[in-house]
Amino acid sequence: MDSLAPAPDSQKDALQRRYGATGVPLSGPWNEVIATMLDHRSVRGYKPDPVPPGTLETMIAAAQSAATSSNMQWTSVIATTDPAKKKVLAEIAGGQKHIEQCPLYLCWVADMNRHVTISAAEQVEFHTMPWLETFMVACIDVALAAQNAVVAAESLGLSTVYIGAMRNDPVRVAELFDLPKQSFVVFGLCVGYAAEKSVGEVKPRLSQAAILHHEKYDNSAAHAERLAHDEEMMRFSARHELQAGTWTQRVLNRLGPLKSMQGRERMRAALAKLGFEIR
Ligand SMILES: Cc1cc2nc3c(=O)[nH]c(=O)nc-3n(C[C@H](O)[C@H](O)[C@H](O)COP(=O)(O)O)c2cc1C
Repeated sequence: MDSLAPAPDSQKDALQRRYGATGVPLSGPWNEVIATMLDHRSVRGYKPDPVPPGTLETMIAAAQSAATSSNMQWTSVIATTDPAKKKVLAEIAGGQKHIEQCPLYLCWVADMNRHVTISAAEQVEFHTMPWLETFMVACIDVALAAQNAVVAAESLGLSTVYIGAMRNDPVRVAELFDLPKQSFVVFGLCVGYAAEKSVGEVKPRLSQAAILHHEKYDNSAAHAERLAHDEEMMRFSARHELQAGTWTQRVLNRLGPLKSMQGRERMRAALAKLGFEIR
Protein backbone atom coordinates (compact mmCIF):
# COMPACT_ATOMS: atom_id res chain seq x y z
CA MET A 1 0.00 0.00 0.00
CA ASP A 2 1.10 3.57 -0.72
CA SER A 3 2.78 4.87 2.44
CA LEU A 4 0.62 8.01 2.30
CA ALA A 5 -2.60 5.99 2.28
CA PRO A 6 -3.16 4.22 5.60
CA ALA A 7 -5.75 1.43 5.80
CA PRO A 8 -9.38 2.63 5.57
CA ASP A 9 -10.12 1.05 8.96
CA SER A 10 -7.62 3.37 10.57
CA GLN A 11 -9.59 6.33 9.20
CA LYS A 12 -12.81 5.19 10.83
CA ASP A 13 -10.99 4.40 14.07
CA ALA A 14 -9.28 7.80 14.08
CA LEU A 15 -12.57 9.63 13.49
CA GLN A 16 -14.24 7.56 16.18
CA ARG A 17 -11.47 8.39 18.66
CA ARG A 18 -11.89 12.10 17.89
CA TYR A 19 -15.70 12.27 17.91
CA GLY A 20 -16.93 9.21 19.80
CA ALA A 21 -18.91 6.34 18.29
CA THR A 22 -22.04 8.38 17.54
CA GLY A 23 -20.38 11.46 16.09
CA VAL A 24 -18.28 10.02 13.26
CA PRO A 25 -18.61 12.33 10.24
CA LEU A 26 -18.81 11.28 6.62
CA SER A 27 -15.61 9.60 5.45
CA GLY A 28 -13.61 11.63 2.96
CA PRO A 29 -10.09 11.70 1.57
CA TRP A 30 -7.43 10.44 3.93
CA ASN A 31 -3.67 10.16 4.18
CA GLU A 32 -0.90 9.97 6.76
CA VAL A 33 -0.70 13.73 7.25
CA ILE A 34 -4.37 13.82 8.23
CA ALA A 35 -3.98 10.67 10.33
CA THR A 36 -1.14 12.37 12.26
CA MET A 37 -3.28 15.44 12.88
CA LEU A 38 -6.27 13.43 14.05
CA ASP A 39 -4.07 11.46 16.42
CA HIS A 40 -2.95 14.62 18.23
CA ARG A 41 -3.02 14.67 22.00
CA SER A 42 -1.28 16.99 24.46
CA VAL A 43 1.28 15.18 26.58
CA ARG A 44 2.22 16.24 30.10
CA GLY A 45 4.93 13.72 31.02
CA TYR A 46 8.24 13.19 29.20
CA LYS A 47 11.20 10.83 29.10
CA PRO A 48 14.53 12.57 29.67
CA ASP A 49 15.85 11.51 26.24
CA PRO A 50 16.88 14.52 24.15
CA VAL A 51 15.27 15.10 20.76
CA PRO A 52 17.54 13.85 17.94
CA PRO A 53 20.00 16.31 16.38
CA GLY A 54 18.41 18.41 13.66
CA THR A 55 14.87 17.91 14.98
CA LEU A 56 14.62 21.46 16.28
CA GLU A 57 15.77 22.83 12.93
CA THR A 58 13.26 20.62 11.07
CA MET A 59 10.46 21.84 13.33
CA ILE A 60 11.48 25.43 12.73
CA ALA A 61 11.58 24.87 8.95
CA ALA A 62 8.03 23.48 9.20
CA ALA A 63 7.04 26.50 11.29
CA GLN A 64 8.53 28.94 8.81
CA SER A 65 6.68 27.17 5.99
CA ALA A 66 3.31 28.22 7.42
CA ALA A 67 1.51 31.05 5.72
CA THR A 68 2.43 34.42 7.20
CA SER A 69 0.24 37.45 6.89
CA SER A 70 1.54 39.68 4.03
CA ASN A 71 4.82 37.73 4.42
CA MET A 72 5.66 39.91 7.44
CA GLN A 73 7.22 36.92 9.28
CA TRP A 74 6.44 38.07 12.80
CA THR A 75 7.61 34.90 14.56
CA SER A 76 10.75 34.30 16.62
CA VAL A 77 11.38 31.22 18.74
CA ILE A 78 13.50 30.81 21.87
CA ALA A 79 14.62 27.21 22.33
CA THR A 80 15.74 26.26 25.82
CA THR A 81 17.11 23.08 27.34
CA ASP A 82 18.52 24.83 30.42
CA PRO A 83 17.08 23.20 33.58
CA ALA A 84 17.42 26.43 35.58
CA LYS A 85 15.44 28.44 33.03
CA LYS A 86 12.81 25.73 32.66
CA LYS A 87 12.42 25.68 36.46
CA VAL A 88 11.59 29.39 36.46
CA LEU A 89 9.21 28.95 33.53
CA ALA A 90 7.46 26.04 35.27
CA GLU A 91 7.00 28.24 38.32
CA ILE A 92 5.55 31.08 36.20
CA ALA A 93 3.19 28.51 34.70
CA GLY A 94 1.83 27.62 38.14
CA GLY A 95 4.03 24.57 38.73
CA GLN A 96 3.57 22.72 35.44
CA LYS A 97 6.22 20.02 35.95
CA HIS A 98 6.24 18.92 32.30
CA ILE A 99 8.10 22.17 31.48
CA GLU A 100 11.00 20.99 33.65
CA GLN A 101 10.70 17.43 32.43
CA CYS A 102 10.64 17.93 28.67
CA PRO A 103 14.09 17.94 27.04
CA LEU A 104 13.24 20.85 24.74
CA TYR A 105 11.09 23.88 25.50
CA LEU A 106 10.17 26.40 22.83
CA CYS A 107 8.86 29.89 23.48
CA TRP A 108 6.96 31.34 20.54
CA VAL A 109 7.50 35.06 20.27
CA ALA A 110 5.37 37.69 18.53
CA ASP A 111 8.44 39.63 17.49
CA MET A 112 7.48 43.13 16.42
CA ASN A 113 10.95 44.30 17.38
CA ARG A 114 12.28 42.96 14.07
CA HIS A 115 10.04 45.41 12.23
CA VAL A 116 10.69 48.29 14.63
CA THR A 117 14.38 47.80 13.87
CA ILE A 118 13.68 47.95 10.12
CA SER A 119 11.68 51.14 10.65
CA ALA A 120 14.67 52.74 12.42
CA ALA A 121 17.28 51.45 9.97
CA GLU A 122 15.31 52.55 6.93
CA GLN A 123 14.14 55.78 8.60
CA VAL A 124 10.53 55.15 7.70
CA GLU A 125 7.91 55.62 10.37
CA PHE A 126 5.59 52.58 10.60
CA HIS A 127 2.19 54.12 11.30
CA THR A 128 0.58 50.67 11.33
CA MET A 129 2.53 49.33 14.30
CA PRO A 130 0.60 50.52 17.38
CA TRP A 131 -2.76 49.07 16.33
CA LEU A 132 -4.63 46.07 17.72
CA GLU A 133 -4.95 44.72 14.17
CA THR A 134 -1.17 44.55 13.75
CA PHE A 135 -0.71 42.91 17.16
CA MET A 136 -3.42 40.37 16.34
CA VAL A 137 -1.82 39.56 13.00
CA ALA A 138 1.53 38.95 14.71
CA CYS A 139 -0.07 36.59 17.25
CA ILE A 140 -2.02 34.78 14.50
CA ASP A 141 1.23 34.29 12.57
CA VAL A 142 2.92 32.85 15.66
CA ALA A 143 0.09 30.38 16.26
CA LEU A 144 0.09 29.15 12.67
CA ALA A 145 3.87 28.68 12.71
CA ALA A 146 3.81 26.83 16.05
CA GLN A 147 1.06 24.50 14.94
CA ASN A 148 3.07 23.53 11.85
CA ALA A 149 5.96 22.69 14.18
CA VAL A 150 3.63 20.61 16.36
CA VAL A 151 2.40 18.60 13.39
CA ALA A 152 6.01 18.09 12.25
CA ALA A 153 7.06 16.93 15.74
CA GLU A 154 4.12 14.57 16.08
CA SER A 155 4.81 13.11 12.62
CA LEU A 156 8.29 12.24 13.94
CA GLY A 157 6.90 10.39 16.97
CA LEU A 158 7.51 13.27 19.37
CA SER A 159 4.91 14.73 21.70
CA THR A 160 4.11 18.29 22.68
CA VAL A 161 1.93 20.45 24.86
CA TYR A 162 1.33 24.16 24.43
CA ILE A 163 1.87 26.31 27.52
CA GLY A 164 -0.39 29.36 27.43
CA ALA A 165 0.56 29.92 31.06
CA MET A 166 3.63 31.82 29.86
CA ARG A 167 1.15 34.70 29.72
CA ASN A 168 0.64 34.48 33.51
CA ASP A 169 3.66 36.77 33.70
CA PRO A 170 4.86 37.88 30.25
CA VAL A 171 7.24 40.48 31.71
CA ARG A 172 9.14 37.92 33.78
CA VAL A 173 9.33 35.59 30.78
CA ALA A 174 10.66 38.44 28.63
CA GLU A 175 13.28 39.28 31.27
CA LEU A 176 14.41 35.65 31.50
CA PHE A 177 15.17 35.58 27.78
CA ASP A 178 16.44 39.16 27.37
CA LEU A 179 13.66 39.85 24.90
CA PRO A 180 13.84 43.25 23.25
CA LYS A 181 10.98 45.75 23.54
CA GLN A 182 7.90 44.98 21.45
CA SER A 183 8.37 41.25 21.57
CA PHE A 184 6.22 38.92 23.62
CA VAL A 185 6.00 35.17 24.29
CA VAL A 186 2.54 34.18 23.11
CA PHE A 187 2.91 30.64 24.47
CA GLY A 188 5.47 27.96 25.21
CA LEU A 189 5.67 24.43 23.88
CA CYS A 190 7.07 21.31 25.57
CA VAL A 191 8.68 18.91 23.11
CA GLY A 192 9.97 15.40 23.79
CA TYR A 193 9.21 11.71 23.88
CA ALA A 194 6.13 10.91 25.92
CA ALA A 195 6.65 8.96 29.13
CA GLU A 196 4.72 5.73 28.65
CA LYS A 197 2.02 6.44 31.22
CA SER A 198 1.52 9.97 29.83
CA VAL A 199 0.60 9.14 26.24
CA GLY A 200 -3.09 9.30 27.05
CA GLU A 201 -6.04 9.10 24.73
CA VAL A 202 -7.18 11.36 21.94
CA LYS A 203 -9.48 13.91 23.59
CA PRO A 204 -12.94 14.04 22.01
CA ARG A 205 -14.18 17.22 20.39
CA LEU A 206 -17.60 18.73 19.75
CA SER A 207 -19.32 17.09 16.82
CA GLN A 208 -19.05 18.70 13.42
CA ALA A 209 -22.80 19.39 13.62
CA ALA A 210 -21.95 21.81 16.45
CA ILE A 211 -19.23 23.75 14.68
CA LEU A 212 -19.63 23.39 10.91
CA HIS A 213 -22.20 25.64 9.26
CA HIS A 214 -23.20 25.65 5.63
CA GLU A 215 -23.95 28.96 3.93
CA LYS A 216 -25.22 30.57 7.15
CA TYR A 217 -24.73 30.25 10.86
CA ASP A 218 -27.25 27.87 12.37
CA ASN A 219 -27.05 26.95 16.04
CA SER A 220 -30.28 24.98 16.24
CA ALA A 221 -28.31 21.79 17.05
CA ALA A 222 -25.99 23.53 19.53
CA HIS A 223 -27.72 22.47 22.74
CA ALA A 224 -28.22 18.82 21.81
CA GLU A 225 -24.66 18.57 20.48
CA ARG A 226 -23.25 20.11 23.64
CA LEU A 227 -25.10 17.56 25.77
CA ALA A 228 -23.84 14.74 23.55
CA HIS A 229 -20.29 16.07 23.90
CA ASP A 230 -20.77 16.33 27.67
CA GLU A 231 -21.62 12.63 27.79
CA GLU A 232 -18.58 11.74 25.72
CA MET A 233 -16.32 13.93 27.89
CA MET A 234 -17.86 12.52 31.06
CA ARG A 235 -16.69 9.05 30.03
CA PHE A 236 -13.28 10.42 28.98
CA SER A 237 -12.89 12.29 32.29
CA ALA A 238 -13.83 9.22 34.32
CA ARG A 239 -11.15 7.20 32.50
CA HIS A 240 -8.57 9.93 33.15
CA GLU A 241 -9.67 10.98 36.65
CA LEU A 242 -10.21 14.56 35.49
CA GLN A 243 -12.01 16.87 37.91
CA ALA A 244 -14.32 18.66 35.47
CA GLY A 245 -16.41 15.76 34.24
CA THR A 246 -18.30 17.32 31.39
CA TRP A 247 -17.12 19.81 28.79
CA THR A 248 -19.74 22.26 30.06
CA GLN A 249 -18.25 22.04 33.55
CA ARG A 250 -14.80 22.69 32.09
CA VAL A 251 -16.13 25.80 30.32
CA LEU A 252 -17.81 27.03 33.52
CA ASN A 253 -14.62 26.52 35.56
CA ARG A 254 -12.38 28.22 33.01
CA LEU A 255 -14.56 31.15 32.01
CA GLY A 256 -16.56 31.78 35.20
CA PRO A 257 -14.17 32.98 37.90
CA LEU A 258 -11.72 35.77 37.14
CA LYS A 259 -9.07 33.98 39.21
CA SER A 260 -8.89 31.30 36.51
CA MET A 261 -7.04 33.90 34.42
CA GLN A 262 -4.07 33.52 36.80
CA GLY A 263 -2.81 37.05 36.28
CA ARG A 264 -3.61 37.26 32.58
CA GLU A 265 -6.32 39.82 33.28
CA ARG A 266 -3.40 42.23 33.63
CA MET A 267 -2.30 41.55 30.03
CA ARG A 268 -2.86 45.09 28.79
CA ALA A 269 -0.56 46.52 31.48
CA ALA A 270 2.03 43.79 30.86
CA LEU A 271 2.06 44.49 27.14
CA ALA A 272 2.48 48.22 27.81
CA LYS A 273 5.51 47.37 29.98
CA LEU A 274 6.91 45.32 27.10
CA GLY A 275 6.70 48.37 24.85
CA PHE A 276 3.50 47.60 22.99
CA GLU A 277 1.18 50.49 22.38
CA ILE A 278 -2.06 48.91 21.26
CA ARG A 279 -4.75 51.25 19.98
C1 LIG B 1 -2.71 28.23 23.14
C2 LIG B 1 -2.80 27.01 24.04
C3 LIG B 1 -2.36 27.10 25.35
C4 LIG B 1 -2.37 25.97 26.17
N1 LIG B 1 -1.85 26.05 27.42
C5 LIG B 1 -1.75 24.93 28.18
C6 LIG B 1 -1.07 24.98 29.44
O1 LIG B 1 -0.60 26.02 29.90
N2 LIG B 1 -0.94 23.82 30.13
C7 LIG B 1 -1.42 22.63 29.65
O2 LIG B 1 -1.26 21.61 30.33
N3 LIG B 1 -2.09 22.56 28.48
C8 LIG B 1 -2.23 23.67 27.72
N4 LIG B 1 -2.83 23.62 26.50
C9 LIG B 1 -3.32 22.32 25.99
C10 LIG B 1 -4.85 22.22 26.03
O3 LIG B 1 -5.26 22.07 27.35
C11 LIG B 1 -5.26 21.04 25.17
O4 LIG B 1 -4.91 21.29 23.84
C12 LIG B 1 -6.77 20.78 25.26
O5 LIG B 1 -7.13 20.35 26.54
C13 LIG B 1 -7.18 19.71 24.26
O6 LIG B 1 -6.47 18.51 24.50
P1 LIG B 1 -5.58 17.83 23.40
O7 LIG B 1 -4.56 18.82 22.93
O8 LIG B 1 -4.94 16.64 24.08
O9 LIG B 1 -6.49 17.43 22.30
C14 LIG B 1 -2.87 24.74 25.67
C15 LIG B 1 -3.34 24.67 24.36
C16 LIG B 1 -3.31 25.79 23.56
C17 LIG B 1 -3.80 25.68 22.13
